[in-house]
Amino acid sequence: MSAPTVALIFAHPYAERSLANRELLKAIDDLSFVERRPLYDLYPDFDIDIEAEQGRLETVDTMVLQHPVYWYGMPALMKLWIDEVFTMGWAYGEGAAALKGKRLQWVATTGGDFDAYSKDGPHGHPFEAFVAPMRQTALFCGMDWLEPIVVHDAHSDQAEVAAAGQRYRARLLTFETARKRLPA
Ligand SMILES: Cc1cc2nc3c(=O)[nH]c(=O)nc-3n(C[C@H](O)[C@H](O)[C@H](O)COP(=O)(O)O)c2cc1C
Repeated sequence: MSAPTVALIFAHPYAERSLANRELLKAIDDLSFVERRPLYDLYPDFDIDIEAEQGRLETVDTMVLQHPVYWYGMPALMKLWIDEVFTMGWAYGEGAAALKGKRLQWVATTGGDFDAYSKDGPHGHPFEAFVAPMRQTALFCGMDWLEPIVVHDAHSDQAEVAAAGQRYRARLLTFETARKRLPA
């Protein structure tokens, strides 16, 4: 079996209670080129092995960050993972090249529905307003930012979750197809 080309960094502190993220993971379950790194299983005590994480990222050409949106951002362990793994000189700063040119695919689920993310809705802004920190993190590290896959109303809109699972799967497959087209 060939080495994985996609690192899926997954953070869900209550994965056993997840509906949406569980469905999304199911949709890509059989893709052998995707290495799953479930952070809350790997690091239940938040003691991240930075060298191991950097080593895994260096071998792939796509990073997927998948998580439920918590307080307009990511769960705590994913934030810590970025804080600790994206080091100066490795991810950014002079001579840093580890993440340059790699794709970043963001996959996020929200409890709020599409309309709730508007000026007059309870969240006060379109969801796009909350995308900026993640997008800029990718760009700051020289990564190739892709259109995020965002699933709103993830508690109740099962049809949307299922459709998003298929979009997610199709997106990952395009990465693999593009890679196969490159000369060896
Ligand atoms: C601590 C916490 C914070 C949350 N913050 C938000 C939020 O800021 N915006 C939102 O739309 N949903 C929020 N939610 C709802 C989750 O995003 C939602 O439950 C999740 O995406 C559903 O996916 P799952 O079935 O995989 O858990 C929050 C949920 C929790 C537990």
